[in-house]
Amino acid sequence: TRLAVLYGGQSGEHEVSCRSAASILAHLDRERYQVTEVLIDRDGGWHVGGRPTPLPAALRVLRAQDVVFPALHGPYGEDGTVSSLLEWLGVPYVGNGVFASAAGMDKGVTKRLLAAEGLRVSPGVTLRTGEDLSPEDQRRLELPVFVKPARAGSSLGVVRVDDWAGVPAALEQARQVDPKVLVEQGARGREIDVAVLQHPDGRVQAGPPLEIRVTGSGFFDYDAKYDGGAIFQIPAPLDAATTEVLQDRAIRAFQALDCRGLLRVDFFLPTEGSTEPIVNEVNTFPGFTAASQFPQIWQQAGIGFAALIDILISGALA
Ligand code: DAL
Ligand code: MG
Repeated sequence: TRLAVLYGGQSGEHEVSCRSAASILAHLDRERYQVTEVLIDRDGGWHVGGRPTPLPAALRVLRAQDVVFPALHGPYGEDGTVSSLLEWLGVPYVGNGVFASAAGMDKGVTKRLLAAEGLRVSPGVTLRTGEDLSPEDQRRLELPVFVKPARAGSSLGVVRVDDWAGVPAALEQARQVDPKVLVEQGARGREIDVAVLQHPDGRVQAGPPLEIRVTGSGFFDYDAKYDGGAIFQIPAPLDAATTEVLQDRAIRAFQALDCRGLLRVDFFLPTEGSTEPIVNEVNTFPGFTAASQFPQIWQQAGIGFAALIDILISGALA
């Protein structure tokens, strides 16, 4: 099987994508797959097998594959733009299509689609260029709030605000990443991720919930994500009924967004009041380093890294 791994990209998660791709490349069975590496650099330049390659030539290489494995995170990769390119080329690819990728990349759009499905989300407001938080928004939302670029990943540009006076500076910071910003009431509770995997026969499975314990004083931000500032517990210590609810909500999120192949749904599980899990966000191509949540969850469920990527690739070819 001729397979290209497409990675890098122009988003702030370029480095994370390189790490995800390195793990995927390390686990691909070279007897089954004839592998080509295709890198998009930070400036949008293409490189095939380590050589700078003009875009038309790079596209011809992609079109000649049996399947492409996009291992991109963030805008210009995980947001439907690359899925669209691969659709045009007519080459099968792993993971989510144009709609799910675009909808899942935008935290404001995701929130509305999931709320329409009846899933619980934190109250929030989307602010476009030139818009500020209104007095009504301030009355409706409780502090702390999180100010987030609508379309980004790995917590890039996300600011926690404990005092309304801090909002303008937080908006400015988030807008350096995306002019469209989400101001969201901070959800309290345990932080739980659920991985969803679609098997080649179409069956959709949710894995054992993973609990994130942040070891520092902050939230699960970029440094905690990639510099060992968090501990994962799989399965999370939960009763069977709570596990079932989380898995059900994760599969409903997968279906509401019209996903294919995979999705990681990140929840807050309130410890007081209603215990209905709150969906914080989704990741249509979650981190794939060997230490990332998604592969770790499936490892715990008995599906090792190599088997996991075989399932995803077979699904793309099915
Ligand atoms: N956006 C990063 C890669 C994640 O969610 O794992
Ligand atoms: Mg994310």
